[in-house]
This record gives sequence, structure tokens and C-alpha cells, in this order.
Amino acid sequence: MRVHRELNKLLSLIKNYCRDTYRHSVNVSLIASRIAAHLNLSETQVDLIKVAGLLHDVGKIKIEKEIINKPGKLTRDEWNIVKKHPEYGVDILLPHSWAKPFLQWVYCHHERWDGNGYFGIKGYDIPLEARILALADAFDAITSSRPYQKKKNWQESLNEVKRCSGTQFDPFLAQELIQFPDKILKPHALIGDGGAEFGTQQRNRFGEEGADYN
Ligand SMILES: [Fe+2]
Ligand SMILES: [Fe+2]
Repeated sequence: MRVHRELNKLLSLIKNYCRDTYRHSVNVSLIASRIAAHLNLSETQVDLIKVAGLLHDVGKIKIEKEIINKPGKLTRDEWNIVKKHPEYGVDILLPHSWAKPFLQWVYCHHERWDGNGYFGIKGYDIPLEARILALADAFDAITSSRPYQKKKNWQESLNEVKRCSGTQFDPFLAQELIQFPDKILKPHALIGDGGAEFGTQQRNRFGEEGADYN
């Protein structure tokens, strides 16, 4: 099981780098794969999104932790460094042949529907899977507390998704999430800090302290 071994090694790197980044990655993986399943994407595609979610922020391990976890506003230089993490992620994943199908999704996970994301890719030019990851990424951040923001409750979070539909998020995906939150999210079943060895039973908890949303 070379893939599982390599994947678990990468997950350990994220976990050792920062528990919050790890927790966030697990939640993004779950939320994104549930959106994908809700959309009736193939089982293979759902599995790939699950793994891409776990690794979407792996590039952060190349960035100083102090910058990633800085509670206050980032300087322009710091922000420019943080914005490199999708590319760093691709660099880290490139040697792994099994990651090839989702390199582009990792690269595009901070693109916005309106083109105001990291690299200015917009609308349907952003792969569907990356649009799903972007929504899951933001939703986990919205529902988690951060040093500078109290976490929002369920309804407030969905209102936030609605507010950013068509600008930050693909409006179709946002609408699906708003319309079927129980089916997609099943809040009590989301994974938290309890540990996620890929390919093993996972413990469930959601929304501990802190979230990265870069
Ligand atoms: Fe990210
Ligand atoms: Fe993220």
C-alpha cells in the first residue's frame, strides 16, 4: 500500500507542522467529498476529492509557522509568502504519481468565482473540484473560531455562504449547500482533531479552536 504509506507520511508532516492546519484539512476533505457525493460525482472522483482535501494546504509546511498562525493582519510581504502555498503544495505532491489527477485542484483552491482569487482564474475556468474545495475550505473557516473572529453558528455560516455566492463561490455549489445543509454536512459526523490516518476508522468531532483560511 505505497499510496497509503506516502499519504500518511504527508499527513504526519501537516500534523507535526500545525494541529489546526491538520484539523482544517480533515474537515475540508470531509465537507468537499460530501458535496461531491451530493452532486453524484463518480466514486473515484469523490475519493480523489477526499485526498485532495486532506492535502490542499500541504504547501503551508514550507512557510514559517509564525506567519501562518499570526493572529493580526499580515504585512504585504507576509501575505505574498502565504499566497505561495498552493504552488508549494504542487511542488510537494509532484513526485507522487497518485497525486497527479488533483494537482490542478490543489493549485486552484484559492481561486474565486469572480476571478479575484490568488491567480485570477475565474468561473468555469476553475476546475469543478477546485470550486468544491474552495467552498469547503471557506465553510470550515467560517464555522471555526480564529484569533480575530468568533466562530459563526450554523445559520450564520450558511448566510455567509449565501452572501458570497456568485463572488467568492460558484453560485450553483453555494445554492446546493444552502438548500441541503443537513444532507451534505451532517454536523455531528464531521471529523475534528481526533486523528485521521487515511484508510483507518476516523473519530468524529468538529470545530475546535482556530482555522486557517489563507
Ligand atoms: Fe489554502
Ligand atoms: Fe485551506
